[in-house]
Amino acid sequence: MKNITNILKLIQILSDGKYYSIKKLSKILKINPIFINNYIFKIEKLGLIILQNSEKKYRFFKPIQLININFIRSLLKENNKIYFIPIINSTNQYLMDKMNILKSGDVCISECQLTGRGRFGRIWISPFGMNIYLSMYWKLNCVFYHLKGISIAVSIAIAELLKYLGIKSVKIKWPNDVYLNNKKLAGVLVEIINKNSHNMQNIIIGIGINCSMNLYNLSLINQNWTNLDVHGINLNRNLLIVMLIKKLKITLLTFEKTGLFSFLKKWKSLDIYLNKNVKVMINNHAIFGIARGINIYGEFLLENNSTISAWHGEQISICKY
Ligand code: BTN
Repeated sequence: MKNITNILKLIQILSDGKYYSIKKLSKILKINPIFINNYIFKIEKLGLIILQNSEKKYRFFKPIQLININFIRSLLKENNKIYFIPIINSTNQYLMDKMNILKSGDVCISECQLTGRGRFGRIWISPFGMNIYLSMYWKLNCVFYHLKGISIAVSIAIAELLKYLGIKSVKIKWPNDVYLNNKKLAGVLVEIINKNSHNMQNIIIGIGINCSMNLYNLSLINQNWTNLDVHGINLNRNLLIVMLIKKLKITLLTFEKTGLFSFLKKWKSLDIYLNKNVKVMINNHAIFGIARGINIYGEFLLENNSTISAWHGEQISICKY
């Protein structure tokens, strides 16, 4: 995107939610006023809503709290790299492209993803300044058949962190969707690079948490979604990022030692469908039964005709029945 520095500066000025005239904006930015409308148009394309009053002054629909990378780095005080690219294609892709020079625990965060990706090849809607888009690289010491469990461990980490921050009713829908009041709040996309049968797996863990995404962005998502804002929860995004990075590292180290074993009890308290009647769709074929949690490999357990079977795979979706 051309003139990215000016666009970011303009966002910074408008982030307080107050009205600014074109004249004032052009003076602060030291640019010709004729460019401002063009920048405003580009900012709207990043998902931000801009209002204009009768005096032709602009403001954001609501104030936004921008990522303060120096604050984040100062709180982490660790050896890992924290890449911050305000406008990016995908934080997962960024780390993937840099993989050869990364260390376990290196992170990429962004304000806005142009081609954010979700599971099943879906697009992850990633408007500017409203949510968390974070990826971490890890060289995971675990055999490949335990890998299925990693995204479950990560979703438990997110849910536990949100609970700790006071959001008590957070739940997880198998395998790794974090839910609040029966709507999706956060998603996890673990991408494995060169899956091999040895004990070292290169993985990128991508996390998206909806913090204050607005109704306009809602219309672009075809899932039942929610954000922290609509529940009156206003967390400091910068602190949330710091805590998430710390929690992720602890989780990954534990997973390397015990696999999913030390997460099974936590899963039980977070599982949205535990002991409920569910419909499991497998390649367009429906099976009905009772959800009985997960096993050590992270497979979904379904009780049906008094037997319990384990299910996994991309083609499975589960809903309440
Ligand atoms: C899902 O479909 O539930 C997973 C969504 C994962 C989105 C995150 S946002 C940060 C990281 N970068 C991406 O492109 N995707 C993940």
